[in-house]
Amino acid sequence: MNEIVWIAIWSISFFIAKAEIKCQFEDDGGMMFHMCNATGVSDNILRRGLVSDKRKTFHIILNQCNIVSIEQEAFYRLPALAILDLAENKIESLPIGVFDRITSLSRLNLSYNLLTELPLGIFNHNTDLSVLDLEGNRLHTLKPGLFDSLWRLYQLDLSHNLFTGKEIVPELFERKRDISILTLSGNDMTEANFLSIMNNLNYLFLDGCSLKVVPKLATAANMKQLRQLSLASNEIKSIDDATTFSKLIDVMKLNLSRNQIVFIHKDAFKNLRYLEEIDLRYNKLTTLPVDMFQNIPKLYELRLSYNLLTDIPLNAFFGTELKRLSFDNNNITHLHENFLMKIEDAGLMLRIMHFGNNPWQCACLRELLREVKEMEVLYDNDSYDGEHPVCVTTKDFYCRRDAAAHEQFIRMYNENIRVR
Ligand SMILES: *[C@@H]1O[C@H](CO)[C@@H](O)[C@H](O)[C@H]1NC(C)=O
Ligand SMILES: *[C@@H]1O[C@H](CO)[C@@H](O)[C@H](O)[C@H]1NC(C)=O
Ligand SMILES: *[C@@H]1O[C@H](CO)[C@@H](O)[C@H](O)[C@H]1NC(C)=O
Ligand SMILES: *[C@@H]1O[C@H](CO)[C@@H](O)[C@H](O)[C@H]1NC(C)=O
Ligand SMILES: *[C@@H]1O[C@H](CO)[C@@H](O)[C@H](O)[C@H]1NC(C)=O
Repeated sequence: MNEIVWIAIWSISFFIAKAEIKCQFEDDGGMMFHMCNATGVSDNILRRGLVSDKRKTFHIILNQCNIVSIEQEAFYRLPALAILDLAENKIESLPIGVFDRITSLSRLNLSYNLLTELPLGIFNHNTDLSVLDLEGNRLHTLKPGLFDSLWRLYQLDLSHNLFTGKEIVPELFERKRDISILTLSGNDMTEANFLSIMNNLNYLFLDGCSLKVVPKLATAANMKQLRQLSLASNEIKSIDDATTFSKLIDVMKLNLSRNQIVFIHKDAFKNLRYLEEIDLRYNKLTTLPVDMFQNIPKLYELRLSYNLLTDIPLNAFFGTELKRLSFDNNNITHLHENFLMKIEDAGLMLRIMHFGNNPWQCACLRELLREVKEMEVLYDNDSYDGEHPVCVTTKDFYCRRDAAAHEQFIRMYNENIRVR
């Protein structure tokens, strides 16, 4: 009796352990594309035979296949393999030599696995690798030399790991100073200094890196080729120094959203001749110095939503090419009379303007709505459906532009609309 029960259980567990991955092969002009999916929910070991030993395979997707480990020979004899996607598995470690036979590899995605380290030499034969994605693992350090053989590497994603800036040593990039796109978001980069040796960074992402100030490493002279700098979701309170960004002479896009910025030096963006977009949403700005954005010749899009602004100065965008402006969710009760017309008179042609969810005086909002319609400016029209209260008014229905009006209407709005 006991024996029979034991056999039954044994055969069930055998069945579970045999869970599989199924691959679909597609011919793409003589080259093979493999799309693989797990057929069950249990863990898989990637062995030689599933995707290996195929002369014409150039692209393999093994995304979400419950892979926990990979045999050293799993990618044998794949001379044409260029793209390998191993993202969203449960790979904890990689055996030395596992990528040695795929010398044509140009893109490798290992994101969202459980890797805690990468053995030195793991990429020694992948000299064509240009894009490496290691996002969302548990890496806390990388050994100098790891990237030395990756002559073509230009895009590296290290975001959302357990790195700390002070543990990454510059020697790691000694032979890879020319990486173009580097993503470090979601790691503590407060004491980082390893970027000082980079000389060709074009895109740098430092979102959610626990930064309390704009870091010098992202704005130093060796960053002069930077086109995009993202510092969103940090703890930056103030940008006091007029020269903070002054060395980023080629920068086109700056993202400072989701910080706690209360102050920006009025000259902080001056002389950024290629700057097109600034994202300042979700900060604590209360005033805009009238000349902060003036004469940024290429400025095209400015996002100021979710701040505490009470005014948008009339001449704030003089000398720019502003087309898109958002200042919804601020503390604005009114704008200057004929705001849009005066802006156009100054040579600007706004295309899109978002201004909803401010404590508008109804009379002032009505003037603005008339202007946006007349001038065919697209706006956040979804709040004006006649069903949601959008503004407050006293008995006297005219747009008051005196200082005392602010306080009064903000209070009315907070009591009657914002609380809902
Ligand atoms: C694998 O899953 C993807 C997305 O879930 C689906 O598009 C594809 O058809 C599946 N392939 C196979 C071979 O089942
Ligand atoms: C890697 O895979 C993840 C998850 O599927 C995806 O979001 C990411 O864009 C991929 N990375 C690259 C560089 O293609
Ligand atoms: C700025 O970064 C935030 C957070 O990563 C993102 O949601 C937003 O789209 C970015 N802004 C721009 C203009 O790219
Ligand atoms: C701005 O709005 C907030 C509510 O979002 C309010 O608490 C605050 O008093 C207002 N500040 C000013 C200066 O009007
Ligand atoms: C809002 O504007 C869009 C784009 O101009 C338009 O297609 C849509 O009908 C408008 N919606 C309302 C409620 O007016």
